[in-house]
Amino acid sequence: MKSQLKKIAIVGASGYSGEELVRLLLSHPHAELTAVTSRQYAGQTLARVFPRFASHPRAKELRFSEPKPELLAKQAGLVFLALPHGVAAEYAVPLLRAGVTVIDLSADFRVKSAAVYREFYGHDHPAPELLAKAVYGLPEIYRAEIRKASLIASPGCYPTSILLPTIPLLKAGLVRPAGIIADSLSGVSGAGRKAEREYLFVECNESARPYGIPKHRHLSEIEQELSFAAGTPVIIQFTPHLIPASRGILTTLYLDLKKPFANAAEMFVLTGQISECYQKAYGREPFVRLLEGKELPDTKNVVGTNVIEIAWRLDPRTGRLIVMSAEDNLTKGASGQAVQSMNLRCGIPETAGLV
Ligand SMILES: NC(=O)c1ccc[n+]([C@@H]2O[C@H](COP(=O)([O-])OP(=O)(O)OC[C@H]3O[C@@H](n4cnc5c(N)ncnc54)[C@H](OP(=O)(O)O)[C@@H]3O)[C@@H](O)[C@H]2O)c1
Repeated sequence: MKSQLKKIAIVGASGYSGEELVRLLLSHPHAELTAVTSRQYAGQTLARVFPRFASHPRAKELRFSEPKPELLAKQAGLVFLALPHGVAAEYAVPLLRAGVTVIDLSADFRVKSAAVYREFYGHDHPAPELLAKAVYGLPEIYRAEIRKASLIASPGCYPTSILLPTIPLLKAGLVRPAGIIADSLSGVSGAGRKAEREYLFVECNESARPYGIPKHRHLSEIEQELSFAAGTPVIIQFTPHLIPASRGILTTLYLDLKKPFANAAEMFVLTGQISECYQKAYGREPFVRLLEGKELPDTKNVVGTNVIEIAWRLDPRTGRLIVMSAEDNLTKGASGQAVQSMNLRCGIPETAGLV
């Protein structure tokens, strides 16, 4: 049985999304974690650095190592990069050259244009020749492409929470591509496991604040993917907020309808069309929970799971469609979604290790 397991490595396994990958992969029925890297913890076992995994036998033997692409290429057939943007590409290039499949959780390969990357990330793209090769790792939208990809760019946490609710509506022509507004609330783990004053407990606890306005970096991939869905350039208004929670993202979207409704009968028809649109897109998706009754999304329902909850309401007073989503930024918004892509790429059940 052991020989059938896929050999998997994680570069940047000591960060928040790396730790979440470790959690998912230690208990994955088709994966064997063969290498985990961290410069600061090199030489220490997983069990020592993350005592919560200590009861897993593999955590007692597997030690963090320095990230060395040539060694990783011998240890694993698929490598997750849970590294800061800019750094991830440095590892992706030699790993791909060595024939390893790469799933990158950073922003390095999410946008197709090197000029857009430079505009939003403030430096030249380290490997622009790979941008066309990369597949955007949103399984519900790019499942067929992910199955064949050697470089998978896993989406950002905010983008996942905005794209999954919006893409089906744009594709169906139910909402206008112009004037989309997205407000998102995120837990502090979204900023990574780094010690910076603005993320200290006393700075974040009992505080809620916007940031990254008006041009958060994630807009680059959000607008790219919404433009693909709409078939026309899309620019949105996006305001992220930091809230005093460890994990979870709640997003509220305000959308203008293509054909506004004038009365209750037209609203009834539109309600049916929106419901049908979402059912068609996600009715059979294992990780999208459509809330069609009175329920509304709540991060407490999804934290620690790979599920995104989506609900919507038509507002007869403003004539707008309000769509809400909730996900765990570290799971569906990062590592869970990346494992979902790994499952697709490796030809194993898409839900393996995630339910
Ligand atoms: N946090 C989220 O909610 C989230 C969601 C979606 C996507 N992402 C993306 O996923 C990536 C990782 O995010 P994170 O939040 O997990 O970050 P993090 O907690 O800060 O962890 C970063 C990891 O990278 C390693 N690292 C940092 N600089 C490195 C370098 N120059 N060379 C080799 N290793 C290096 C660190 O370990 P050592 O310093 O010990 O080597 C650590 O393991 C980022 O690109 C982020 O944008 C994060």
